[in-house]
Parts: sequence; C-alpha cells; structure tokens
Amino acid sequence: MEQKLQYIQARAMEEMSGAGSLEDLNEVRIRYLGKKGELTGVLRGMAALSSEERPRIGQAANRVRAEIEARLEERMSQLKDSLREKKLSAETIDITLPGTVFSTGKLHPLTAVTRQIEDIFLGLGFSIAEGPEVEMDYYNFEALNLPKEHPARDMQDTFFITPEILLRTHTSPVQVRTMERTAPALPVKIIAPGKVYRRDDDATHSPMFHQIEGLVVDKRITFADLRGVLQVFAEKMFGSETRTRFRPSYFPFTEPSAEVDISCGMCGGEGCRVCSRTGWLEILGCGMVHPRVLEMSGYNSSEVTGFAFGMGVERITMLKYNLDDMRLLFDNDVRFLAQF
Ligand code: PHE
Repeated sequence: MEQKLQYIQARAMEEMSGAGSLEDLNEVRIRYLGKKGELTGVLRGMAALSSEERPRIGQAANRVRAEIEARLEERMSQLKDSLREKKLSAETIDITLPGTVFSTGKLHPLTAVTRQIEDIFLGLGFSIAEGPEVEMDYYNFEALNLPKEHPARDMQDTFFITPEILLRTHTSPVQVRTMERTAPALPVKIIAPGKVYRRDDDATHSPMFHQIEGLVVDKRITFADLRGVLQVFAEKMFGSETRTRFRPSYFPFTEPSAEVDISCGMCGGEGCRVCSRTGWLEILGCGMVHPRVLEMSGYNSSEVTGFAFGMGVERITMLKYNLDDMRLLFDNDVRFLAQF
C-alpha cells in the first residue's frame, strides 16, 4: 500500500512538471485528486485495511495529497508567470515613442487682445455695452455733434444703406445709446467693443476693424480721471514701465480732445525703427465729453461731466506683437495664427 502511494506521488510529480499549460495541469489534478482520481481510489480502499494499518496508511495518504497539492500550486503560478511573460514579449509597445499630439484651436489674436482689454476695464469697475453695426446717422454723427455738413465727417466716410442708415464708423454711437438709456442716473461707466467700418484699405488700415470705446459720466469727473484710467490701462496692457503722453487733438464730440501715445516698448523711448525714431506710439483718441453731447443724450451739462476714449484693437494688437501689416490679422493663414 505504501509503495503504491509512493509510486502515485512520483508519477503525479513527474506529470505536473511535464504539464505545459494550465489545462494540462488541471487534467493532472483531476487524474490524481479528482472524485475518480488515483489517490482518491486509494483512500476509498482503506476500508478494507486492518485497524492497525489504517491510521498509518491514512497519514501517508494525507501527506502525499498535501505534497501533490503544494506542487500543484507552485506549478500553477509558474505557468501563469510564463504565460504573462509570453504575452508581454509578444506585444510591441514602444513606450519611448512620442504621444499623439492633438491640435487644440486657440483664440484669434484680436479676440484674445479684446478680452484682455475688457478684463482690465472690468477690473476698474466698468461694464460692457454694445450697439448695432448698422447704425443710424443720428447716433453715428449727429448726436456726437457732427451735423449734416460737418467737415469732420469726411475723415470717416463709410457705406450708406440709406441717407439715414450706415455702417458705423466708430463705436462712439454706443456712448449716445448708453446715455439715452441711463439718463439721468449716475454714474455711467462702460466700455463698448465692436466692429466699425471706414473707406480705408492699406497696410495699417482695414475697411473693417475693431474699436473699444470707453465712457465715464458722473459728478466732478475731470481730465485727471481720464489720465489716471488710461495710465493704468497702458501699464496693465504693455508693462509697468510704460509711460503715456497726451497730445492736443480735435474730435467734435469731446472738448478738450487728446491723442494718447505710449512710450515705445521696443526701445524704451530712445527712438527706433518701430516708433519712427520718436520714442512714442499712438494708441487712442480721447477727451472730455462735449457738453452738447451730454445735453443731447439727456444729461445736464452744468451738473455732470465725463470723459470718453476710443482705441483701435488692431493697432493695439500690432503694437503688442510687433506686426507690420494689419492684413495679417485678416488673411486667416494658420501659419501666422498658430504663433500666438
Ligand atoms: N471715435 C473716435 C475715432 O474713431 C475716437 C474717440 C472716441 C475720440 C472717444 C474721443 C472720444 O477716431
């Protein structure tokens, strides 16, 4: 009996070592330890043994079973390991290859700069107003103190849809629309971004371009407030070293009026090719709101004052990125746009 057990164990061990797959191994298990397996058969046969023999053989059989089970476990994990190894070496993933680059779109430089300008003024307590691009002559000219035969209309020729309706030449009509809506409440503190149209077309002018208008109306608003706001804007937009310069100018809807320059960021004001050796770059027009404009829009010009400014977004974008041709902004060439 004991010899038979030893023989079963030796054969089981040999067959387990020879099993080349988990399936083969399972067959070996069934052959020896299964319900009709060889070792199970021996245990069943123990009933026929004498009572002295039975415990000894029983112990031996249990030892054989334990050893076969232990070897089974061991062989199983060996086979699993080699299976995984095989799978891994069959897969040809080169983890040093560069990943897939997804091209994500980005904002057009004009949109990005517009948002940047908006953020600066929102931070100063302004809100954003809008007006129509197809505008009435009244808002674009007349209510801004440019009556029908005013010579300053010539500088802003545009497309007339009817004698009274036109493509707006600037965002200043939003000043009037906003004041009409708000009067006589105070304060008025808005910026108005949008498209404007003029009969212009060269390297630094486009028939369609963008402006951002600014308007503040309240009691005791002075030119010093205008200077302060625009100085803060210039520093936030072009860097804290930036200086501003106000030159006398003329607009029918502001009095006094000024043109604002910033110190050239390229040479720091020394004079270079970018600033035509002047050290300064023009960025906008501005002034104190003309009393007649305040009156026409419903405000009492002996009680309130205000300032206004209008800047060209293309111009600011060109200065910020040192572009020499405005048309680059409208060609929609991705080789250009992808650089921002
Ligand atoms: N509307 C003027 C222009 O387009 C700019 C401006 C706005 C000037 C507000 C003064 C005040 O040239």
